[in-house]
Amino acid sequence: MYLEELFGLKGKTAIVTGGGKGIGQVVAVGLAKAGAEVVIVCRSGADETVKLIEEAGGKGYFVRCDVTDEKNVDEAVKEIISRSGKIDILFNNAGACYHKKAILLEGEELKGLNDGEATIDEWRDILNVNLTGEYIMSVAVARTMIAKGIKGSIINMASMSGTIVNIPQCQASYNASKAAVIHMTKSLAIEWADYGIRVNSISPGYVGTPMSQPPFVHQELLDAWAPLFPLHRMAKPEELIPAILYLASPAAGYTTGSDVIVDGGYCCV
Ligand SMILES: NC(=O)c1ccc[n+]([C@@H]2O[C@H](COP(=O)([O-])OP(=O)(O)OC[C@H]3O[C@@H](n4cnc5c(N)ncnc54)[C@H](O)[C@@H]3O)[C@@H](O)[C@H]2O)c1
Repeated sequence: MYLEELFGLKGKTAIVTGGGKGIGQVVAVGLAKAGAEVVIVCRSGADETVKLIEEAGGKGYFVRCDVTDEKNVDEAVKEIISRSGKIDILFNNAGACYHKKAILLEGEELKGLNDGEATIDEWRDILNVNLTGEYIMSVAVARTMIAKGIKGSIINMASMSGTIVNIPQCQASYNASKAAVIHMTKSLAIEWADYGIRVNSISPGYVGTPMSQPPFVHQELLDAWAPLFPLHRMAKPEELIPAILYLASPAAGYTTGSDVIVDGGYCCV
């Protein structure tokens, strides 16, 4: 009962962006198990996530939306308000990454660690999804929280890459986007503190999802990462649920503007 009071999400509506697969899918099921109705907001279908939520005895539905498109986001938020009445929790999880060098010299070997030289459009893409998308979603959802007097919780997906620089791959756009997410989080936490809206970020280390497995990541890179993990392995997506549940729940009533690092000690080395 005491744990339910601290960490329970009964009666809450939670959005998870990019919840069709990977971390978002696993966390969506975790939030539903804690009692929230979960809305999966992503570009392509999320039938599998909705099915997993229902199999776990929870409630959830899918709303198609590209988080980088303001109009799309406004329509999605309107639809969620008309179906669920309010939004209490936003987990801004959607994201993307390229492993590309800022400068690739002629004849330089990539050795399976990088995929070429990044174009300026690729730089803009990553900033657009990882940073601007989270900002657009945060503003649209916080507007409904303020209008309805909801003292909600916004959790932004950052990464340990916002604190350290990953090696040996090159991913300047990703690292810069995640560092900016951490500071955007602190800025919005202060701006919306008067409304009782809490804004925090979570910074995982490497997590075993499609983003960190072949074919997105070459075997050479996985081999190069292996000796760098203090706990000798990547995280399982399930291991992020407790930190996200904490930030989403009444237990974190006095936590805002924080970046919670769940990296198995990677940033300490
Ligand atoms: N996997 C890791 O090692 C790791 C580590 C730290 C942080 N992260 C972060 O966690 C988040 C999820 O990563 P993942 O590993 O599950 O990746 P993933 O590629 O499995 O999932 C990303 C999801 O975001 C969605 N998405 C991308 N662009 C979108 C857009 N414009 N609009 C709506 N949805 C969009 C994708 O469709 C996909 O469902 C990302 O923000 C990532 O940067 C991942």
